[in-house]
Amino acid sequence: MSESAEATPPVAVPGRAVLGIDIGGSGIKGAPVDLATGLFATERLRITTPKKSTPANVAEIVAEIVDHFAEQIGDGPIGVTIPAVVTHGQTRSAANIDKSWIDAPAEKIFEDVLQRDIYLMNDADAAGIAEVHYGAAKGHPGLVMVTTLGTGIGSALIYRGVLVPNTELGHLEIDGKDAETEAAASVKDRKGWSYEKYAKKLQRYYERLEALFWPDLIVVGGGVSKRADKFLPRLKLKSEIVPAKLLNTAGIVGAAWLAADRLVHPDPIR
Ligand code: BGC
Repeated sequence: MSESAEATPPVAVPGRAVLGIDIGGSGIKGAPVDLATGLFATERLRITTPKKSTPANVAEIVAEIVDHFAEQIGDGPIGVTIPAVVTHGQTRSAANIDKSWIDAPAEKIFEDVLQRDIYLMNDADAAGIAEVHYGAAKGHPGLVMVTTLGTGIGSALIYRGVLVPNTELGHLEIDGKDAETEAAASVKDRKGWSYEKYAKKLQRYYERLEALFWPDLIVVGGGVSKRADKFLPRLKLKSEIVPAKLLNTAGIVGAAWLAADRLVHPDPIR
């Protein structure tokens, strides 16, 4: 990972876009990303997530996406996100996905199907790094915390451009409860809460995060951040808190960035 938070691509792949793939509960989306700009080089492809979304079944879809973009990406790196903890190629948790991901050698399962290297990472980490390089926290020199409010809550902690992976702050225990079961956007939708009511839940969540981490900037992502004007102004925090900029492209863009960075900084523990 680069030392600064500048928007420079981590590796020179002149004229070639890097493929990012974002695995979600309902869709698996991929697009080649131009790392000089953080924009998609071609229109993205979305394929519905298989009902039984085991690593092997998902790997088949990822292979389809890779084939689709084969010409644009050549033998360049491929980044893939998953809503789980990922350490050294293994998925370690499965809060909102099929339990077969727990302790699966997922990177290897994908590589066996694809017959090429990929880099698997947590979805919020990818979204966070995308916001730091191209979005709401672009070039930020301090401690940035990116949270994604969706089915669950994802988090990314980035200090001076360097990501601390797998922070999993959606699972912070607050008032004896798993935070994402109280403050994820899916809970608001399920319970039919107003933004005013939802803001109260978010206030409790973000004030805990703030008391523990003291970020300089909090970025709020996930689909609900499109309506950030309805709830962010109600929050009373010490840190600056802003909506994400990249919205539904963040996972793909961050996946591509981190995959390219991996070439320069391979995992020494694997
Ligand atoms: C998972 C995280 C993920 C987040 C957002 C949480 O339930 O534990 O790994 O980043 O949801 O998808």
